[in-house]
Amino acid sequence: MKTFLLKTFGCQMNKDDSERITGLLRLEGYSPCEDESVADLFIYNTCCVRESADRRFYGQAAALKQLKEERPALLIAVGGCLAQMDGDIVLKKLPHVDIVFGTHNVGELPNLIKEVENERQSRCEIKTSSSDFTGDLPAERKSRWHAWLPIMVGCDNFCTYCIVPAVRGREKSRPKEILINACRALVDDGVEEITLLGQNVNSYGRDLYGETKFAELLTEVASVKGLKRVRFTTSHPKDLEEKIIDIVASEKSICSHFHLPLQSGSDSILKLMGRRYSAASYLRLLERIRSKVDDVSITTDIIVGFPNETEEDFLATLDVVKTAKFDQAFTFKYSARPGTAAAHFENKISDEVVKDRFDRLLEAQNLNSYESNKRMLGKIVRVFIEGMSKKNVHPLAARTDSNKLVHLDGGRDLIGKTVDVRINEAFTWFLIGERKGAK
Ligand code: SAH
Ligand code: SF4
Ligand code: F3S
Repeated sequence: MKTFLLKTFGCQMNKDDSERITGLLRLEGYSPCEDESVADLFIYNTCCVRESADRRFYGQAAALKQLKEERPALLIAVGGCLAQMDGDIVLKKLPHVDIVFGTHNVGELPNLIKEVENERQSRCEIKTSSSDFTGDLPAERKSRWHAWLPIMVGCDNFCTYCIVPAVRGREKSRPKEILINACRALVDDGVEEITLLGQNVNSYGRDLYGETKFAELLTEVASVKGLKRVRFTTSHPKDLEEKIIDIVASEKSICSHFHLPLQSGSDSILKLMGRRYSAASYLRLLERIRSKVDDVSITTDIIVGFPNETEEDFLATLDVVKTAKFDQAFTFKYSARPGTAAAHFENKISDEVVKDRFDRLLEAQNLNSYESNKRMLGKIVRVFIEGMSKKNVHPLAARTDSNKLVHLDGGRDLIGKTVDVRINEAFTWFLIGERKGAK
C-alpha cells in the first residue's frame, strides 16, 4: 500500500481541507504515515497570511531536495493558500516539487497524482474559483468526537492588510439543507462537537439567499439531536447581529465563546485597515454580549505595527485590551502581503518599534489571560476530555465550553467524555481541575 505524509500550516480552513485530502487519498488506496524516510507522497497544505508562514514552508520544502535525489520516485505536492498565491513560482523556487494545486483544486488532487506518476512532468493547477465546495468532499477526521464544518468559503471584506480574499476567492455559502444533513450524518458517526467555519460566519447566506441566514443556521444546527456542542468562528465585529447573541445565550449546546478580531484599538488605524467599526462600538458590542451570555469567553486577534501606527494609536490599542479584558488574544506583527492594498501604504513601522509594541501588548494580554483564568477558581465547570497531554503532570487535557484548556488526573478511558470538574489552580495558559466526586 502507498503512503502519504501531510503537513498542514495555517488556520482551521486548512485543517479541514487536510481532512478532505486525507479522505480523498484513502479512497485511492493511500494510507497516512508520519515517517519521512518511507512516505511515497509528501503533501504540504500551506498558508500565506504572514511572511513568516511563507518562510516556514519554503524552508521545510527546500530540505526535501536531497530526499528526492535519493528517492526519485517520491512525489511532492504543494497545495493551500501559498500555492494559490505563488502558483508556478513554487516550481521555480523548488524544482523538486511535482504538483502545485490551488485552494479550489483540492478535488483534482487524486487525478493530478496519477497524471504526474505516468508522465513524470511537474504540474501546476490553480483555478481562481470553483462551483464545487471542498467541504463536500469525503473527510477523514483527526478526531472521533470533533468535526469542522465549513459553512462558506472566501471573503468579501478586503481588509487592506489581508491576503485571504485573494487566495480563497469571493464569499460563497453552502446550502443550509446540505449543512444540516452533514451535521446529522456527523452525529450518527459519533461526533459530539461541531465547529462551523467561515472567514466571516455572520454573513453566511448573503450570496445564496440575498440576506444573512446565520441565525437560522445556528438555531437549526443547535437542534440537531445528539449534538452536544456547537462552536463557530470567525465573527467580524461589524456583522455580529443581536439575534446571534440571543441564540448563543439561550441555546445550551452552543458554546459561550466569541472570537471577535479587534485588529487595532485606534479608530484611524481601523479606518486604514478597512474594518468598518470603531473602538467604542467594538467595546459596546462586548458589553452587550457580556450582559446577555453567562460566563462568556471572548478572544481576539490583534495586529501591531500597521503602516502609520503612531505610539498614540498603539496606546489606544493597549487601552482597549485593558478594558476589554480578553480571555485570550492572538497577537501578530504586521506583515506586508504582495497584492494587498496596505502593501503600498507608506510610513512603514521599523522592526524595533514593532517588536517593542508587540512585547508590551503581550504583557498586557498575559495579565488579562491570567486574570480571566483566576476568575474560574473554585467554579464547577463542564469540560470535554480531548486527550492526553505530554507535558502536564495532570495528564488529561480537556476544554471548557468557553474553550479554556483544563488539565486533570485520570486515565485514557475518560477521553471523549464530558465531565464536571472543580477548578483548583489557574495559570496564564491553562487551568488545573479535579473531577467532581473523584478523589
Ligand atoms: N477571517 C478572519 C481571520 C483571517 S486571518 C477574520 O477576519 O478575523 C487571521 C488573523 O491573521 C487576522 O485576524 C489578523 O489578525 C491576522 N492577519 C491577517 N493578515 C495579516 C497580515 N498581513 N499581517 C499580520 N497579521 C495578519
Ligand atoms: Fe481577511 Fe478581513 Fe476577510 Fe478576515 S474579514 S479574512 S481579516 S479580509
Ligand atoms: Fe487560513 Fe492561512 Fe489561508 S490563515 S485561509 S491558511 S492564508
